[in-house]
Order: sequence, then structure tokens, then C-alpha cells
Amino acid sequence: MGERNWSSIGQKKSMFCLFSITSILFIFSWVFVLRSTGHPYFLDHNLLPNAKFFATFDGRNSAPKSHSDNNPSITPQGSNLLKCSTRNVVLKVFMYDLPPEFHFKLLDWKPEGKRVWPDVRTKVPEYPGGLNLQHSIEYWLTLDLLSSEFADSSNARSALRVHNSSEADVIFVPFFSSLCYNRYSRVKPQEKRSHNKLLQEKLVKFLIMQEEWKRSGGRDHIILAHHPNSLLDARMMLWPATFVLSDFGRYPPTVANVDKDVIAPYKHVIKTYVNDSSDFDSRPTLLYFQGAIYRKDGGFVRQELFYLLKDEKDVHFSFGSVQKDGIQKATQGMHSSKFCLNIAGDTPSSNRLFDAIASHCVPVIISDDIELPYEDVLDYSEFCIFVRSSDALKEKFLINLIRSIKREEWTRMWAKLKEVENFFEFQYPSKEGDAVQMIWQAVARKVPAIRMKIHSSRRFSRYNSPKDRGLRSAKLPIHFAE
Ligand SMILES: *[C@@H]1O[C@H](CO)[C@@H](O)[C@H](O)[C@H]1NC(C)=O
Ligand SMILES: *[C@@H]1O[C@H](CO)[C@@H](O)[C@H](O)[C@H]1NC(C)=O
Repeated sequence: MGERNWSSIGQKKSMFCLFSITSILFIFSWVFVLRSTGHPYFLDHNLLPNAKFFATFDGRNSAPKSHSDNNPSITPQGSNLLKCSTRNVVLKVFMYDLPPEFHFKLLDWKPEGKRVWPDVRTKVPEYPGGLNLQHSIEYWLTLDLLSSEFADSSNARSALRVHNSSEADVIFVPFFSSLCYNRYSRVKPQEKRSHNKLLQEKLVKFLIMQEEWKRSGGRDHIILAHHPNSLLDARMMLWPATFVLSDFGRYPPTVANVDKDVIAPYKHVIKTYVNDSSDFDSRPTLLYFQGAIYRKDGGFVRQELFYLLKDEKDVHFSFGSVQKDGIQKATQGMHSSKFCLNIAGDTPSSNRLFDAIASHCVPVIISDDIELPYEDVLDYSEFCIFVRSSDALKEKFLINLIRSIKREEWTRMWAKLKEVENFFEFQYPSKEGDAVQMIWQAVARKVPAIRMKIHSSRRFSRYNSPKDRGLRSAKLPIHFAE
């Protein structure tokens, strides 16, 4: 009896196994069918093994291409992914024709007659050199939009200017706020307020009058404020928009945050290391840092680190910000170092990280609140070392960590830096996969969330007046009433 029972249990067991195996096989084959048809689940959730470098870009409901059209973009190489995604989905951007005083006139461009924009086919207004350049993204993005109407429809384009705002994905506000801050924030003797403040007031007044702003409450507007102090007044009024920023250090989380806004790189001031054939042994300095000594807020770490590192062999640690004449020296220093320190200053971000990338000097990031450009598609841990401030301040922690990274691992990160450096290059005309295109693509990835916010804000529009809808959330324009 006992034996028969056991064998029947065994039979049941093997039947169960067979059933399980067939089920698993069935699920697997179903998975493969979905994969090969490019089912949205796999695109949206990025489960494909090779899609780790670049998440696919098509999250936009109204994009004309179907998911399967984007399927070829799932290939092992990041560069191929980029090529396909930029070819298929172009962000449609409506740009306000703001008067020139908001943009190119700040660069001393003199408009002829009633022209609002320079004719980029004949002459492009130049941006002054020097340190202002690090926040010049407003200039490069605007030029790219202007030229999008004339340039051949090459693969490189990620954004296209459209003149009918109803057809646009986003509304672009072409105010050169960083340049305005850098050049015009001083109050002149006979004036009450700076030109920078006046222009911000004018901008807010202009925007809230626009049909486009009222339609969305500003939610689909793209506003640039890369310098941490730029748009200081207007940011508190315009926060429903998506800001393009360097970090969130000086923003309340309700005004700007990583979900709503886009982080853009600084334009590096150190020269790109062209034809870099250096290696682990040919870069004599182990760790390089050059920066201002006294910094408020989170910057105390710099001083502490100086005392921890000043007597270490092969460490270059010197204070003093990079001045014009210092750029040559800093270039040389970073090009001949294995690791470059990026320590929080008075803001979590700085152009030093992007200088390090351009120098192929592996960045060591000590900045607990830093946010990084395009981090949703780029894994910085492949080419940067991250160290918490609290760890970095422990005796010998940092130097031991750096010394433990040997030739092989360093070389892997160095090679990766050369692969990604183009994502941080600003140029005109913009080229495929450079910073301009990457920023547009990052904006495009915000579009589904923007649409969702706009749609849900319309739920009660049947009996709320458009005025309520548009302005209530933006708390406008009470502060500007005179
Ligand atoms: C703008 O686009 C909308 C939606 O496609 C269309 O209804 C409207 O007629 C267009 N306006 C003009 C001036 O072309
Ligand atoms: C880099 O190498 C290429 C090809 O060898 C050469 O044409 C170019 O002039 C080099 N550039 C620099 C800055 O050395």
C-alpha cells in the first residue's frame, strides 16, 4: 500500500514538473514574441539586455511612429541607439518671438529694422569667450532652433521649430537669463533696479498674457536658467514650467526638482583632449584639484580635504579659481592626471566635472546633492567615482580608495570617457549626439509627464474659468502689480 502511494505521488510529481516546464517554455516563447514585435512593455521598462546604455526614447504618446518602428534602435552600441532614436522622434518646439533685448541683443547684436532674430544663414552673433561661456546653453539651444528651419534634414536633429503653437510639443522661452545675470545684475547709479530684474519682470508680464501660457498654465513651457543665480525673481512665478538648470542647489523643491526639470551640462572651459593617446603610466599626477578655497554652504569639505591630502604623493591640490590665464595651466594639469576631484562648492555642481570629462581625467565626485545631466539614460558610475562627503572626510579613506583603482579599471573608465565626451560638447552647428541634441532629447522625455499634468488640470475646467485654470497654480501675477 505504502509503496503504491509513494509511486503515485512520484507520478504526480513528475506530471507537475512536466506541466511547470511547459508553462515556463510557453512564457518564454511569449516573451520572445513580444520582444521581436517590440511590445511597448519592453521598450518602456527597458528590460532588454542591451538597452542599458540608452533607454529608448519613445515614451511619447502622440509620436507619429509606432513602437515597432523604433525597434531597430535596440542594438548593442549606444551610438546606434542614439542615431535611430534621433532619426525617428523629433521634438516640435514653438519659440516665442521675444524682443531681441531678451536674447541676442544681450550679446550686442544689432537688429536691422524690426527683425527679431539674426539670420543664421548669413551671420551668427558671437558669444564672448571667458567664464560666461560655461552657462551659455541658452545661446546654443536657441541657435539650433533657428537653424532647424534651414538646415538639411539630417539625422542629427532632435528638435524642430514650428510656428503653430497648437502643433508643438513644448513652448520655448528664448530668454538668455544666465548672460543677463552675468552682464546686467549690477544696479547703475541712477536706477532703482538692475536691468536683470527689469527684464525678468517684463518676461513674467509677457508670458502670463500669452494664449500658450493660459492654455497649459505654463506647464509645457521650457525656460532656461543655467546659472544658479539667473532668473532669481521670475523663477518663483514661472515654476509650473520645465526649467533647464545646472543643479537644484538654490531652488525650493516645489519650484524645481528632478522629476519636473532638466539638468544640463556646463560648457567646459578646459580644452578637449584631442587624439588622447595617454595611458595610466603617462599621466604622472594621481589626483588633481584646482578651485576656490573658501566656499559657503556645502563647500567646507574642500578645506577639510585639503588638510587630508596636502602631504600625499602625486596629489595636486591648489586653491584659486581658474582665471583666463589659468586655463592653459589647468588644461595641462587635467590632461596629465589620472583622477580629477569634483568637490561641492557653494552649489552642488560645477564646470569642473565637465572639464574633467573633456580631459579624460576620471572624475571623483564628492557632492552629495549633485544631479547629473541625462542620468536617466547614462550610467555615470561607469566613468566616475562617487564618494559620500562623510566618507571622504575619514582619514585616508579617499586616498586609499583612489590608490586601489589599478591600471585595468582606470583604463576602462578612461575609454568610457572618450565614448561619452561628445554628449557634453556644445557647438554650432550642432552635431549628432552632442550636448544640444542630448538636452532636446531629455526635454522630449519630459513630454509625457507634462501632458499628463495638463490633462489632469483640465478635469474641472467645465465649471472653472480658464483664468483659474491657467493662473491659480502659478500664483500670478500678484507680486508684479505696481
Ligand atoms: C494650428 O494647428 C491647429 C491644430 O493642428 C489647427 O487647427 C490650426 O488651424 C492651425 N493654425 C494655423 C494658423 O495654421
Ligand atoms: C588628430 O589626429 C588626426 C588624424 O591622425 C589629425 O588629422 C589631427 O590633426 C589631429 N589633431 C590634433 C589636434 O592633434
